[in-house]
Amino acid sequence: MLHKDIVLTGDRPTGPLHLGHLVGLLQQRVVLQNVYKQYVMIADIQALTDNVENPEKIRSNVLEVMLDYVAVGIDPAKTTFFIQSMIPEIAELTVLYLNLVTVNRLRRNPTVKTEIQQKGYEETVTAGFLMYPISQTADITIVKGTKVPVGDDQLPVIEQGNEIVRSFNRIYGPVFPEIQALLSSTPRLPGTDGKAKMSKSMGNAIFLSDSANVVAQKVMSMYTDPGHIHVADPGTVEGNVVFMYLDIFDPNKDEVTQLKEHYQRGGLGDVTIKRRLITLLDGLLSPIRKKRLEYAQDMAHVKQILLAGTQSVQEVAAHTMREVRVSMKLDY
Ligand code: TRP
Repeated sequence: MLHKDIVLTGDRPTGPLHLGHLVGLLQQRVVLQNVYKQYVMIADIQALTDNVENPEKIRSNVLEVMLDYVAVGIDPAKTTFFIQSMIPEIAELTVLYLNLVTVNRLRRNPTVKTEIQQKGYEETVTAGFLMYPISQTADITIVKGTKVPVGDDQLPVIEQGNEIVRSFNRIYGPVFPEIQALLSSTPRLPGTDGKAKMSKSMGNAIFLSDSANVVAQKVMSMYTDPGHIHVADPGTVEGNVVFMYLDIFDPNKDEVTQLKEHYQRGGLGDVTIKRRLITLLDGLLSPIRKKRLEYAQDMAHVKQILLAGTQSVQEVAAHTMREVRVSMKLDY
């Protein structure tokens, strides 16, 4: 390991991973694992905070997400994978952190506030959902994580995490390092319908596990410019999902600029730009799809990777909790 920094990141296993995750996976986790000690956690407990009544859904997606991870090139020889629910110390640490955060502070967290609105939880939000930033801080600090690759929507969660770390260290002694968020340089990918965020629950996602045909269908039904009816009509590029994807995935920036000009002038059809995007995505996704299918032949092995990583985190977590108990005078 070149650095003593520790990277921790994770996902809620609410569905297989999609194109919106891919850039972060490739530009961050696949790269960071060569430089740092990296943990990737499957956040099944956090997933239950907004899927209380769907334990089956979470359960069945844990190994789907593992397949996505290994298929994109997160390497089990370099990265330690683990599952949140098998580290009870995370829950224990969460309880200890609860006293360091006010309920008002939780209510004001912009990430949580937005999610509460999106999910229509205003009057019905559970204590578990409201306090997920605390449990996420425990996820990170249980391995003494110092760097966390996240989307910009998660920045307030990291900020709140650092408030907890500082309070803890001030009151009980210096146990935890501060956490640094690592932002991806790529803008967030919109859904195929043009909505701000790609997500399984909004039905606007292209999954890494989608077949070539399904990807092609989804691109063909992408939101473009509703006023662009005939090929000869001038079209709008802003908010046009196909161009937003080309901006992110097409390595040939000059050609994309030319295509945009042509589209704005008129004379360039949606089908032409969609075909281009399909070819690009196929090039990107087909090696991932192939590797995913290979791993899927032996699910026992995939599960074994997850369990082996989890076992090694159990040791780290027990060590951290011993330190926490000593510093909090709970070491009877
Ligand atoms: N909240 C993150 C998400 O929804 C998932 C997550 C859980 C996470 N624990 C984490 C991310 C710890 C980074 C670090 O995407």
